[in-house]
Amino acid sequence: MGRKAIVTGVGHYAPPKVLSNKELEKMVDTSDEWIVSRTGVRERRILEGERGSSYMGVKAIEMVLNDRGMSPEEIELIIVATVTPDTMFPSTACRIQDALGAKNAWGFDLNGACSGFIFALQTAAGFIESGLHKNVLVVGADKMSAIVDYTDRTTCVLFGDAAGAVLLEPAREEGYGLLDSILRCDGSGANHLYMMGGGSLYPASHETVDKKMHYIYQDGRTVFKFAVTRMADVSEEILLRNNLTGRDVKFFIPHQANLRIIDAAAKRMKLTEEQVVINIDRYGNTTAATIPMALSEVFHDNKIRRGDYIVMAAF
Ligand code: COA
Repeated sequence: MGRKAIVTGVGHYAPPKVLSNKELEKMVDTSDEWIVSRTGVRERRILEGERGSSYMGVKAIEMVLNDRGMSPEEIELIIVATVTPDTMFPSTACRIQDALGAKNAWGFDLNGACSGFIFALQTAAGFIESGLHKNVLVVGADKMSAIVDYTDRTTCVLFGDAAGAVLLEPAREEGYGLLDSILRCDGSGANHLYMMGGGSLYPASHETVDKKMHYIYQDGRTVFKFAVTRMADVSEEILLRNNLTGRDVKFFIPHQANLRIIDAAAKRMKLTEEQVVINIDRYGNTTAATIPMALSEVFHDNKIRRGDYIVMAAF
């Protein structure tokens, strides 16, 4: 067996400012009851002030390095999954590298939206498995409040700001670490969930601002249908091809977009409530941050034991 990558540190950060459903009731035509029953979200966090995603990423990484007892100078590579980079360039990874004082690291951003952390994790694992690096920081950081239209009730209730991070290093023993992954994308869905403005197709202009093109647009129903089947499909497939069943899984850590989507995947894997990690009620959908944040929370709650199988899934 070749060299595998293993997670040797985890951390997360959620800004202190809480935006509750009750507060949203005053901003748009919605209700706490509607939001909770349709999505599972009760409150979300908002990053205040002139701060970008890198601010939260650095905080999450500090927790990782502190746990691991490692200094920033020892880091070799930083991969940041985000759709809300501080700036188009330089990358948020560069900003984090500088803020941390990770003098010997290189880094780049990876845009995989809600799948960003999973894509970045596998990318990072490749650098470890190939022997090119002996450690890689993987960060999922999104300040969704920067691209949410707080007059659009169909999206503003869903999202929040946060960051999560993990450190990958070579596994010392066989059978431990990142064992398998299934990665896919389907660009034909591009018309159902996007932010149109600010890229090379529609550069920022008065017109793009007037047309609200710098905000998230989502056809919720279509995304919902896609998510319910696809997240369940891959979760089931990865168990099957590793000769595992739901019963072997200690924790299922799904992307936190909607409680009903999570329930559908958990049902297909035949999991009990205790096996499914949920924090959407407290943070909403924090895009690339949901999975590392949930992983960090269960880890720091002391719930993960050596040898436990964990399945992570996003869409
Ligand atoms: N408060 C009150 N009513 C709302 C509302 C809100 N915040 N948002 C939408 N509604 C209304 C709609 O306008 C619609 O009214 P209508 O029937 O008069 O047109 C009604 O509620 C039902 O809307 P619908 O979009 O069918 O609701 P839904 O049950 O599909 O839930 C989402 C909407 C967005 C919660 C759900 O579709 C979803 O979670 N989709 C996936 C989103 C996702 O995962 N995105 C992230 C991808 S990583």
